Amino acid sequence: MSGSSDYRGGFAHFMLKEICEQPQAFRKTLQGRIQQDRVKFEELNLTRAQVEQWRKIYIIACGTAYHSGLVGKPMLEEFLGVPVEVEIASEFRYQNPLLGEKTLAIFVSQSGETADTLGALRQAKNKRAATLAITNVAESTIAREADYNLHLGAGPEIAVASTKAYTTMLIVQYLLSIYLAQVKGTMPGEKAARILTALQELPEKVQQILDRKELYPEIVKEIKNARSLFFIGRVLDYYIAMEGALKLKETSYIHAEAYGAGEIKHGTMAIVTDETPVIAVAVQKSVYEKTLHIVREVAAKGAPVLAVVEEGDTEMQKWAKQVVYIPQIENMVSPVLAVIPLQLLAYYTAVARGCNVDQPRNLTKAVTTD
Ligand code: AGP
Repeated sequence: MSGSSDYRGGFAHFMLKEICEQPQAFRKTLQGRIQQDRVKFEELNLTRAQVEQWRKIYIIACGTAYHSGLVGKPMLEEFLGVPVEVEIASEFRYQNPLLGEKTLAIFVSQSGETADTLGALRQAKNKRAATLAITNVAESTIAREADYNLHLGAGPEIAVASTKAYTTMLIVQYLLSIYLAQVKGTMPGEKAARILTALQELPEKVQQILDRKELYPEIVKEIKNARSLFFIGRVLDYYIAMEGALKLKETSYIHAEAYGAGEIKHGTMAIVTDETPVIAVAVQKSVYEKTLHIVREVAAKGAPVLAVVEEGDTEMQKWAKQVVYIPQIENMVSPVLAVIPLQLLAYYTAVARGCNVDQPRNLTKAVTTD
């Protein structure tokens, strides 16, 4: 790399640097927070009475941070037995939502300065909800104004496209689910232990995916000239697909939409052709066969399919033109791994198209006006 890239640690772009920093970022996020099969947050000391009074939880955020909340919701619901709604901050704050003392409102924001997320936080406080921020900037406005704050510890994120902040948001939300369940006394022991083990495996397993990044310039040849493409998946894979589509749009300027795999049949299939590549995420075991079924359907329409599956999968390669494998891991934690190939796809597609990777047109790192 040239001297001018020194300040990017030898990487051509901050986005690639930040993608590659994820193993270290995960170690930092996890540091000191798992002790003898239990979660400990230095920043949080909640009582059982506090947690028990929350009858509803909201996760409120924008963009990539919102996508992280979609992944965080199922574990919170399962471990706490409380309904969780995930809301886009710019909608939530204009909907006069039902909030009160029996609500916990969680605000997720890399910058901690996003205007809509901050507006929603202030509204929640006015309505006397308990507020908890998850941010990457400890001294940010959202971190300061919330009742409680959990730090991502991802390190500075410079590229407009969020990568390591997203994956550490997932990790902190998994830890938070287990922590709250511990305090409330609803922790499903064996499952939580499996998740904690999986979280500690993440740095090494992400590294295995990153070690194969040199394959991506070749992989993206199939999508770099597309005018439009689709990302599909079901349940947690769908939420990863949403993040993959956003990442590709913002870095490469290619129109991309994410669908729950089954939903694509309800209209959009009409525009699936050999000119619309489909990126399929098929990692969630409970819906694997169902997603495979849709992959076969879109492939039959001529769409070149690029699939993300777990190592050991032998079926997908029969239908997909290209298959990217990620290491096996506890299914609930797999989004942290499954999104890495999508980040790399977005990055290498943007590079192949000559886009301004770190500073895409029309975008800023933190949207501080509403
Ligand atoms: C992510 O790639 C985007 N640049 C964008 O969606 C971002 O996540 C959103 O603006 C929210 O930012 P925040 O996390 O700083 O609140």
